[in-house]
Amino acid sequence: MAHFSWTDDLNTGSTLIDGDHRKLIGLVNALFETMESGQGNGHMSKAMNDLIAYAGEHFAREEVAMERIHYVAALAHQAAHIRLLKQIVELKAMLDAGGRINVPAVSDFLGEWLREHILTADMKLAAALKKQRSAEAAPQPH
Ligand SMILES: [Fe+2]
Repeated sequence: MAHFSWTDDLNTGSTLIDGDHRKLIGLVNALFETMESGQGNGHMSKAMNDLIAYAGEHFAREEVAMERIHYVAALAHQAAHIRLLKQIVELKAMLDAGGRINVPAVSDFLGEWLREHILTADMKLAAALKKQRSAEAAPQPH
């Protein structure tokens, strides 16, 4: 069962960013499934690695886009990415150490982990990317 569903409020309007977010939500849900099904720590650890790897790739893609448009809040946004990655790396360490998992708590945490970032930082970035695109498309004054 999917715990984290895509909702329209998550739409940033950037195809690149939204596509990545859908995939991240899929990976979060895949992780929930391994936690619930009791398939064992090996499966959970793999699902966690997939999530960490893809989150890293996605954050890097956003950071390249920020650099391209000389995004004013790039440093703060990058710092948020580092924090987000650290949180899931810590969660993985806890799972790997065989710590008892409170599935609803982890599921809440991961749902909020991504949703909050999308609704705040990524929305602003997508708006800035859109603005830059329309500036590029506009005819240059002579
Ligand atoms: Fe982001």
